Amino acid sequence: MTIDDSDGFLTQAGGAVLGWGLPRLRALPWRHTRDPWAVLVSEVMLQQTQVPRVVPKWHAFLDAFPTPAACAAAPLGDVLRLWQGLGYPRRARNLHAAATALSEFGEFPRTLDGLLALPGVGQYTARAVLVFAFEADAAVVDTNIARIYARGIGRRLTAAQVQAAAEAAVPPEESWAWNQCLMDLGATVCRPLPLCGECPVVATCAWHGVGPDPAIGSAGVSRTQSRFEGSERQARGRLMKALSERSVAAADAAEVMGHPAASRLIEALCAEGLVTLDDGWLRLP
Ligand code: ADE
Repeated sequence: MTIDDSDGFLTQAGGAVLGWGLPRLRALPWRHTRDPWAVLVSEVMLQQTQVPRVVPKWHAFLDAFPTPAACAAAPLGDVLRLWQGLGYPRRARNLHAAATALSEFGEFPRTLDGLLALPGVGQYTARAVLVFAFEADAAVVDTNIARIYARGIGRRLTAAQVQAAAEAAVPPEESWAWNQCLMDLGATVCRPLPLCGECPVVATCAWHGVGPDPAIGSAGVSRTQSRFEGSERQARGRLMKALSERSVAAADAAEVMGHPAASRLIEALCAEGLVTLDDGWLRLP
């Protein structure tokens, strides 16, 4: 079966989704700006971190670095310090590299290919900037939206299928509102454990909560996060937190990290450019 005979889920539903979503659109601060840099920062932060944690960090980050040039001018260590608490610090390194590229371009790219050329910017983030900053007619597919389409169409989809289905459904000229409303639908109703009784499009949903969930194993739908306690991610986070406050002697790092694989993890952090080792001391770059 191709996507074309998969019922055009949501292609006629613009009114229902916008009618449901606009009056209850979550008041998130990045929804009040069209500044592409501010939007890019929000989207990178939101990729792996929950909204309530992102809100204060987004404000603090943009206060410190209101433009790509301001970010590019700072050492990566300052960016990593502001990132503290968000996790996955590779994102901060990529954002810093993107800021450098942007301040060299002089102008924010406004095309998919131009955005995809930025370090750390993939298919999702590039489209999110196109839609949420430039209000271009495009479809963003994050984990929530991928879940909505897999369920609505009623089977597991490939990445290309979900993107095509999402693009077919965008109402022209309303992409900003449409994509934001779908994000809220996925975050508040079409959740991993769904509230189908509250869904504005349940009548056109192939799954409607009955039988095995087609979103499980569908492209772009994240699985539940693995355990944090005792993980390598936790150990790396402990070191990054300590380093955002002070230098750490390499000999003390295993104790700070509390993990048996500390030395391998430190080596990897150094190789990724997130930590420097100099004269026996670990520091932020
Ligand atoms: N997650 C990613 N982008 C988002 C946005 N614009 N609003 C809410 N959650 C998001």
